[in-house]
Amino acid sequence: MTAHLPFPLRVAVVGSGPAGFYAAEALLRSPDVAAEVDVFDRLPTPYGLVRGGVAPDHQKIKTVTRIYERTAARPSFRFLGNVMLGRDLSVDDLRAHYHQIVYATGNEADRRLGIPGEGIWGSTPSAVFVGWYNGHPDYRAAKIRLSAERVAVIGNGNVAVDVARILLRTPEELAATDLAGHALEALSGSGVREVWMLGRRGPAQAAFTPQELKELGELADADLRIDPADLELDPASAAEVESSSSRQRNLELLREFAGRPPRGGHRTLHLRFCVSPTEILADEQGAVRALVLARNRLAARPDGSVAARPTGETETVEVGLVLAAIGYAADPIPGVPFDDRARVIANVDGRVCDAATRAAVPNEYVVGWARTGPQGLIGSHKGGSAEVVERMLADGRAGAVAGRELPPRTAIDELLAARGVQVVGFSDWKRLDEVEVARGERRGAPRDKIADGDARLALLGD
Ligand SMILES: Cc1cc2nc3c(=O)[nH]c(=O)nc-3n(C[C@H](O)[C@H](O)[C@H](O)COP(=O)(O)OP(=O)(O)OC[C@H]3O[C@@H](n4cnc5c(N)ncnc54)[C@H](O)[C@@H]3O)c2cc1C
Ligand SMILES: NC(=O)c1ccc[n+]([C@@H]2O[C@H](COP(=O)([O-])OP(=O)(O)OC[C@H]3O[C@@H](n4cnc5c(N)ncnc54)[C@H](OP(=O)(O)O)[C@@H]3O)[C@@H](O)[C@H]2O)c1
Repeated sequence: MTAHLPFPLRVAVVGSGPAGFYAAEALLRSPDVAAEVDVFDRLPTPYGLVRGGVAPDHQKIKTVTRIYERTAARPSFRFLGNVMLGRDLSVDDLRAHYHQIVYATGNEADRRLGIPGEGIWGSTPSAVFVGWYNGHPDYRAAKIRLSAERVAVIGNGNVAVDVARILLRTPEELAATDLAGHALEALSGSGVREVWMLGRRGPAQAAFTPQELKELGELADADLRIDPADLELDPASAAEVESSSSRQRNLELLREFAGRPPRGGHRTLHLRFCVSPTEILADEQGAVRALVLARNRLAARPDGSVAARPTGETETVEVGLVLAAIGYAADPIPGVPFDDRARVIANVDGRVCDAATRAAVPNEYVVGWARTGPQGLIGSHKGGSAEVVERMLADGRAGAVAGRELPPRTAIDELLAARGVQVVGFSDWKRLDEVEVARGERRGAPRDKIADGDARLALLGD
């Protein structure tokens, strides 16, 4: 055993998304460390946004969970689902039962537009819409105004593309995915005919990636409309495109889309650029009636990046549903230092620190979106989490956890039982997984999720 590292080193990982699983794997495969890892999640199901965020028509990326299953099969790994830090356990509880803590709690809140009318009936953040169609229990009861004929999707990132695509797919396309049953039913009867995807900057600055953009051109029954004039580039944008193969590919695709004759599809996607929403207008019932847009021009900043500046012109578009896909943020967890500006857990290189003094909080670490904010794909967390684990082990070897006596590993189970928490283990999850996959087979889908939290727990309690 390496000097100063306890035998075994007991670690709590809070959050079972990609970053949490990659951190657990890095700890458990470390050759000269005997680690015991307990991964907690507030949900009874593992995998974070792989289950609750990734689009239902993107099944291939979800097979990444097979890698996480291999981690879960390691003998000293445990999954403790349905346990929420800040509700069922406190940070002090974790400190008393573990040598080290890794926060992998992601970014579960949505960023807000901060404009008048936000929040009225028919104005919905993407976190709600995505959670609703993916069967996340928090959003099972969300009401999405799918009677609207025209929908504005705000943002030019991959989440905006996901949201637009799900609105535009036919019922047949949707039925073959693992879209939650309630969403399949509602989307199959949706009144949506037009989706307007609105970027505040130009096509050269769009955050979506070519693979995702390309799919918008491959929908079974939807046409794309782009004004070719919107694809003319100012010098700063041209320079940005020149320096990035991904942006070049985006522009090629957009130009190809703009030149396509309409096929007479049942639905239409309009891609608009250089417009910022400034107000959501309500009808007499208080529901969304229209969106006011400020037109922007692009201006180069001194560092070469390109900013949107209002021209003073505005337009009003009649819409019945506004979906804001403008990014995510973390929610503070009681007892965990929070960086209010960046809206992440306060940290220096993954070591949790005091938000004001930046002094390290010993033996507490953060990985994934909770560390960096909402940027990066699933695969990016493998390296990110491994890097933080290296720091954890280096701190341990330097004596940070030396001499700490812990109660037996099962003491945390006793504590949770005494608090009446129904802990869901990995084998319980595997049972639920089998049930969902079998339900899916009946509808020709990879999975049919049980979105109702109580029904799920009742099944697991058998
Ligand atoms: C809509 C959407 C679609 C995406 N699609 C793709 C894609 O197709 N391909 C791709 O590569 N990337 C995609 N991404 C990005 C990818 O999902 C993220 O990079 C990744 O999931 C972040 O991992 P994480 O572990 O940091 O957070 P998360 O995956 O969010 O996991 C956080 C976990 O922490 C748990 N948790 C939170 N608070 C607590 C608490 N207090 N106590 C206990 N548990 C808690 C949550 O329940 C959750 O399970 C998508 C992101 C979004 C938002
Ligand atoms: N299929 C996939 O691989 C997939 C799918 C979904 C998500 N993801 C990943 O998950 C991460 C998060 O994606 P995301 O789409 O949520 O975020 P994102 O990539 O950061 O995109 C956010 C978009 O919202 C815009 N925006 C922000 N604030 C705005 C405002 N106030 N008004 C108008 N527009 C505003 C941004 O414009 P500006 O650029 O002008 O700021 C940007 O176009 C990304 O890394 C993404 O690649 C991947």
